[in-house]
Amino acid sequence: MQNLILGIETSCDDTCLALLSLNCKIIYEKSSSQIDIHKQYGGVVPELASRDHLQKLQLLYEDLRQNIDTSKICCVSVTSGPGLIGSLLVGMMFAKGLAISLNVPLICINHLEGHIMSSLIEEEGEHPFITCLVSGGHSQLILVEEFGKYILLGSTVDDAAGEAFDKIAKMLGLPYPGGPLIEKLASKSFNNNEFTFKPCLIDNKTLNFSFSGLKTQVLYKIKELGNISEEMQSNIAYAAQEAIINTLIIKSQMAILHAKKIIMEDKKSALSRFVLCGGVSANSVLRSRFDLMCQQNNLKLILPKMQYSTDNAVMIARAALERYKQRLFSNLNAQPKARWPMNEI
Ligand code: KG4
Ligand code: ZN
Repeated sequence: MQNLILGIETSCDDTCLALLSLNCKIIYEKSSSQIDIHKQYGGVVPELASRDHLQKLQLLYEDLRQNIDTSKICCVSVTSGPGLIGSLLVGMMFAKGLAISLNVPLICINHLEGHIMSSLIEEEGEHPFITCLVSGGHSQLILVEEFGKYILLGSTVDDAAGEAFDKIAKMLGLPYPGGPLIEKLASKSFNNNEFTFKPCLIDNKTLNFSFSGLKTQVLYKIKELGNISEEMQSNIAYAAQEAIINTLIIKSQMAILHAKKIIMEDKKSALSRFVLCGGVSANSVLRSRFDLMCQQNNLKLILPKMQYSTDNAVMIARAALERYKQRLFSNLNAQPKARWPMNEI
């Protein structure tokens, strides 16, 4: 019986394969990270990323073939955007070749839709809900009316939250990806008041936010200090993390109020959940602050399991499952899209 959805994710610097059954059970998952390749450059080098995906996809698929009967695969799903064009291209070509050879449909998935589904892998989605999607490339507040129907409430006008973490880490001399390292450093801060950075709110009229100003505040502070002790480094990391978290909390609270106004009257009572997702949602301080904020707003916070916060193929297969149920298959001529806003899905 063909009952397994193959998920492929190669939009940035992780090569991932997963198999999800039609009843939402994870049958297989494996990833290969490129952090060691990009670390020395302080960020992802697109050309190196696509070359590595090409090698690793074949190795991962070979491993999958050794462990699973591939005749059980009922469709091949793949991240088609947004992301690095070369990396997406490698994943899509691989997926198309497999779909043809296995004679099963292809399903192209938007990476951001995948992140939203990462928190709902083993759950049925109750709609509507609001989501704060914070990754290395995106920071958005989205009202999910139902699967596939997204209203963008606000987003960053410059850097993404993860990008801000990464750039500030770089200023502090830390390697890529800096988000987890900033969290670790911040947890060692014993003087939380030594530095404060202003939250990065554009104004209180829009739901958009900006993180580039924070970068500048941190840069000037580091220049002013000259030599930075380990203690100062931790206190800067703490203050920067606070500014990012406060920004996301303030704008999310505004988004909840706004969403309540625009949701159709008959669906208002169904708004009971808030989803926090994307790579930055692996930050445990962010998780606990959102938990508190949701409690204060009578919403249940839904979080992806830690391992599904950052890029993975299980979330791609999970989004594909929804499309598979509706027979929303993609054309084999489909092209990768470096830019693919959610409201254009
Ligand atoms: O979703 P993701 O894996 O890739 C993109 O789609 O961008 O997110 C990666 C981002 C990186 O910027 C990384 O620094 C950030 O998520 N990140 C974190 C943490 N873990 C990963 N940021 C803050 N705290 C963390 N614990
Ligand atoms: Zn991602």
